[in-house]
Amino acid sequence: MTGQTFDLLLKGGTVVSLDGIGPADVGVRAGRIAAIGDLAGASAGETLQLGGLHVLPGVIDTQVHFREPGMEHKEDLEAGSRGAVLGGVTAVFEMPNTRPLTSTAGALTDKLARARGRMWCDHAFYVGATAENAERLPELERLPGCCGVKIFMGASTGDLLVRDDATLERVLRGLGRRCAVHAEDDFRLSERKAIAERAADPRAHPEWRDVASAVLATERLLRLARKHGRLVHVLHITTAEEIDILGQHRDIASVEVTPQHLTLVAPECYASLGTRAQMNPPIRESRHRDGLWRGVAHGIVDVVGSDHAPHTLAEKAESYPKSPSGMPGVQTLLPLLLDHCNAGRLSLRRLVDLTSAGAHRLFGIAGKGRLAVGYDADFSIVDLKAERVIDDALMANRSGWTPFHGRRVKGWPIATVIRGRQVMREGQLLGQAQGEPLRFWQALPAT
Ligand code: DOR
Repeated sequence: MTGQTFDLLLKGGTVVSLDGIGPADVGVRAGRIAAIGDLAGASAGETLQLGGLHVLPGVIDTQVHFREPGMEHKEDLEAGSRGAVLGGVTAVFEMPNTRPLTSTAGALTDKLARARGRMWCDHAFYVGATAENAERLPELERLPGCCGVKIFMGASTGDLLVRDDATLERVLRGLGRRCAVHAEDDFRLSERKAIAERAADPRAHPEWRDVASAVLATERLLRLARKHGRLVHVLHITTAEEIDILGQHRDIASVEVTPQHLTLVAPECYASLGTRAQMNPPIRESRHRDGLWRGVAHGIVDVVGSDHAPHTLAEKAESYPKSPSGMPGVQTLLPLLLDHCNAGRLSLRRLVDLTSAGAHRLFGIAGKGRLAVGYDADFSIVDLKAERVIDDALMANRSGWTPFHGRRVKGWPIATVIRGRQVMREGQLLGQAQGEPLRFWQALPAT
């Protein structure tokens, strides 16, 4: 087609979408995708020549902890989102275990205000479920900028906890949206804590927080979700057993895995990384990693989220199990998955499904998550052939490290485009932080 005019033209790249992979130009007008195809005769305010590069729909990371307010020494909204766009991520869902907890309308409003002009990528915030706010969650989950409710069934960092079935039922009963759940059984974790204390070694982490702790919680959750007819999104699945169980509940439950659980393996990770490999739920032995890959191959896993959860190295240096659980990940999510593609473990189309289409499908994100005409012009532009070494020094997170320091990967994000604006190119930030809240499809509250 000739004579068309665009604000931005992506020329000569290979476009990857759920529809397929092939050479195509992409024309952007007013922040949205206006045309995809051979745009040889078109002109544009700005043209990016992308020969040899792949254009993916913008990667959406549906699980990050950016720690603000209250724990900015570990991470904050500016640095966390800077890491996101440097890693090719265009939007994030941020977690509520901050100080104060994001468990009220006021705390959500505060996060949205803090994000304005400081966050580099688009964003939405989870509201945390507590025994106190259980009856208010149906209103809270509908507030603008909210991606839904988060439930911690097992204690992790912070004070959010919905421990028992009675409280869990109070939370689930009124929800209209899919809620995200950390499924570890807190009763069993408390009973077994002595295992970790006795061992005083992070190698005991998967033994303390064992397979049964995860399976028990997931089974309790599924039973109550079915009883109340609710949709649940089970975060960071770590066991082969849960993949099989969740595969039987596709109608009510969706599944997240993290790049670290797909990549690292116990006990080696604890031997080489010590407490840096400590997270909840834990990195487990290879049969579980194989199980997660089986879940990816069989379509049981819906999304990959990073569970970016930085703690400082000084905190991580405390003796186990006082050392906090969690590791940074938003900036390495896409490089690790591209490396898995190059190693033949993942197809590019499945990567796109797991990093954008999945989030779009599960959470009903308006106008994002597809590389299609009419959708927001969010792109993760990658070089599949680029070989780089992941390094602490490249990391934007305020804690300044990555568990993948020193790992050579093949495949790297080269540019990040959000609503038609290039925000990262070749590791450099461009322009100002102009991230905006995400919008979701949902029925408006009755008046
Ligand atoms: O290891 C973890 N750390 N798992 C979680 O669920 C929470 C996170 C954190 O916030 O530190």
